[in-house]
Amino acid sequence: MKPNLSVSIAGVDFANPIMTASGCCGYGEELAVIFPLSKLGALVTKSITLKPRLGHPSPRTAETSSGMLNAIGLANVGIDKFVTDKIPFLEKQKTKIIVNVAGSKLAEYIEVCARLNDFERVDMIELNISCPNVDEGGMEFGADPKMTEKSISEVKKVFSRPVIAKLSPNVTSIVEIAKAAEQGGADAFSVINSLVGTAIDIETWQTKITNNKGGLTGPAIKPVALQMVNAVYSKCSLPIIGIGGIQSAADVIEFLLCGATAVQVGTALFIQPDLPVTIEKELKAYMKRKKLNSIDELIGKVRKY
Ligand SMILES: Cc1cc2nc3c(=O)[nH]c(=O)nc-3n(C[C@H](O)[C@H](O)[C@H](O)COP(=O)(O)O)c2cc1C
Repeated sequence: MKPNLSVSIAGVDFANPIMTASGCCGYGEELAVIFPLSKLGALVTKSITLKPRLGHPSPRTAETSSGMLNAIGLANVGIDKFVTDKIPFLEKQKTKIIVNVAGSKLAEYIEVCARLNDFERVDMIELNISCPNVDEGGMEFGADPKMTEKSISEVKKVFSRPVIAKLSPNVTSIVEIAKAAEQGGADAFSVINSLVGTAIDIETWQTKITNNKGGLTGPAIKPVALQMVNAVYSKCSLPIIGIGGIQSAADVIEFLLCGATAVQVGTALFIQPDLPVTIEKELKAYMKRKKLNSIDELIGKVRKY
């Protein structure tokens, strides 16, 4: 019996549970040179904003123990260029397309999402209400339950397909924010965005990135992400896309056991861009070895003391 890796989230069917994480492969063009994007469950784009953004000046990344700090500052082409230059390429790809949307004001999120509604091949929107690297909006929205609920409910009015709320770990209670997003009409959660951190050069006493603080990602954050996925899974009923430090099929299985239906691979793509292909093969082999027919048999099945 061949294991079936397909999963379904909010009525959208994915060939497998492995997606790319926003900001870690641009708009997919460079990745498509390395492997056919049909190997992915979904491609998630870099955050798109209303106006183009150059982001913060360099240096905007720094390596840390088992991780990476970044404060890119949401550098992206903006919705106009995304529609004219990037969507035509994405529309041709035989994978699901999730467009991540960010903004500094609610009106910006609404305008971008309304524009995306015209493109049927944009299967879902992932709402970035959790970016730690911009001065306004982003994480501020995602740290306030009322703003979270309102931003989701307003976007749901202009975008007719499913909306994913991407949650921040930089809050007192991620469950409280998840419940607010659920209340606002979210269809799924992405858990988690990066943790706020910093790093300093001890010779110059200078912070290592120009924004002085940034988002910590990579294997260092996996235990935090797993716990948050499981907390949200235990208290809410929407499907979860698990994110944080995934480097192997073993990591993916941990996320599935904690309650994720699918996962995203981010920082690890910078080391091995075709990692999703390897993970898919390893996951299939694990399912065969464990005599599992479907991903469903793993979701939320963690055994606890
Ligand atoms: C360089 C870089 C840029 C990122 N840009 C975005 C972004 O534009 N929007 C967003 O929602 N998340 C962004 N993220 C966060 C990732 O999507 C992901 O949530 C985070 O990196 C954790 O996963 P990982 O440990 O597998 O990298 C970015 C991460 C990195 C490393």
